[in-house]
Amino acid sequence: MSFDRSVKIAPSILSADFADFGREIRAIEDQGADWVHVDVMDGHFVPNLTFGPPAVKAFRRHVTTVMDVHLMISPVDPYIDAYAEAGADILTAHVEAGAHTHRTLQAIRAAGMKAGVALNPGTPAEAVEHLLDLADLVCVMTVNPGFGGQRFIDMTEKVRRLRAMIGDREVHIEIDGGVDTGTARRVVEAGADVLVAGSAVFRGGSVEDASVYGRNIAAIREAAAG
Ligand code: DX5
Ligand code: ZN
Repeated sequence: MSFDRSVKIAPSILSADFADFGREIRAIEDQGADWVHVDVMDGHFVPNLTFGPPAVKAFRRHVTTVMDVHLMISPVDPYIDAYAEAGADILTAHVEAGAHTHRTLQAIRAAGMKAGVALNPGTPAEAVEHLLDLADLVCVMTVNPGFGGQRFIDMTEKVRRLRAMIGDREVHIEIDGGVDTGTARRVVEAGADVLVAGSAVFRGGSVEDASVYGRNIAAIREAAAG
């Protein structure tokens, strides 16, 4: 995985047909997705439950781009090796998920993955200030994690601060939650380069009618470019 700051669209398969993940992943990649965003929820850190390592390993067989795994689980450390084994390219843990995010990020890299750190809307940018040398990605949540289809919470100021803190480090800024054609531009202007979008990509389409996904992805990309 090479680093660049061009805008990348990462559809969240949380909005896909759960009975048809293989075809859904292939459809979004055919239709222009840059990364595939996989939302792992444990019913404890967040009030919803999705899938674990065996499912993620099965998704891997269909992903040809980048598998971006967002862990909304606590604790994280006991599962890092399982997600490495499942084939995650990027593994993101929440800074709120435990007391030792520093150690968690080291362990993610030691397991051979890129390390991401996510911030809930109520958590300040400064919470990751001393973690930036250990991170490859900072995920700024623009909804409270747990569900797709929620309304965007403006975190533009946080993104700006993070962008300044990151400086010339090779760290992506990812925005997750409520990204659509109306919100993409302001976060990219503030310094984000990875846009996760669930409902705004899958809305109105299906594997049988996948060109809708393509149009939705293109519309977000165009909006982001201004
Ligand atoms: C929220 C998840 C997001 C979510 C995004 O807990 O982390 O990735 O699926 O979905 P939308 O784009 O519908 O807000
Ligand atoms: Zn996510």
